[in-house]
Amino acid sequence: MKFYLDTANLASIKKFNAMGLVDGITTNPSLIVKEGADFEQTIKAICKEVYPHPVSAEVIATDYEGMVSEGKRNRSFAENVVVKIPMIAEGLKATKTLSSMGIPINMTLIFSAVQGLVAAKAGASYLSPFIGRLDDVGQDGMGLIRDLVAIKRNENYNMKAEILVASIRHPIHVLEAAKLGADIGTMPAEVMEKLLLHPLTDIGLKRFLDDWNKAKKEKPSLTV
Ligand code: E4P
Repeated sequence: MKFYLDTANLASIKKFNAMGLVDGITTNPSLIVKEGADFEQTIKAICKEVYPHPVSAEVIATDYEGMVSEGKRNRSFAENVVVKIPMIAEGLKATKTLSSMGIPINMTLIFSAVQGLVAAKAGASYLSPFIGRLDDVGQDGMGLIRDLVAIKRNENYNMKAEILVASIRHPIHVLEAAKLGADIGTMPAEVMEKLLLHPLTDIGLKRFLDDWNKAKKEKPSLTV
């Protein structure tokens, strides 16, 4: 499964990119506002850092013309921009238009498998089902991923859109999405950080080094 970071924070992106963990970036208006920086400059800087990996930049408009115009503008920032469009009727029209121009679309705010189906049909390259927000209202977020993966597995449909699991809240979401065979998981930096950690790793490393340092005291000629 590909890992995307769900952030507009360049320092976090650089940190995990240096570890080879970043296959792409997703942003949304809330994440851009959180950084307090200019939208265009932020997207350009992120695109440069992770090139050629895709960077989703969301439109603010909710009408067809506005989304098409903003989508073209966002795409002009860098060739690895993916235009993020909300799963509404006008968004489907804009997706059809922009995707037919060769502009990749990430359809966001998907909360049901049939919404995923229509987004793929309209030409979206990425489907973003929000699992954490479904869990929040007592629905089975991972069940939505299960349904979408099952639909995509039907070879007769030739569904090319990638299932981009969004609104990931913890490592178990990542694990379950990977076991189901989702294409991509996008997660906040705090979740990616948790993927690296296990207390037994820290305890084990400490024990190795303690043993080494103790032996070195007894036998100073010990070298690596
Ligand atoms: C990503 O594309 C989504 O915007 C993001 O994952 C939403 O996450 P949230 O539900 O934690 O805000």
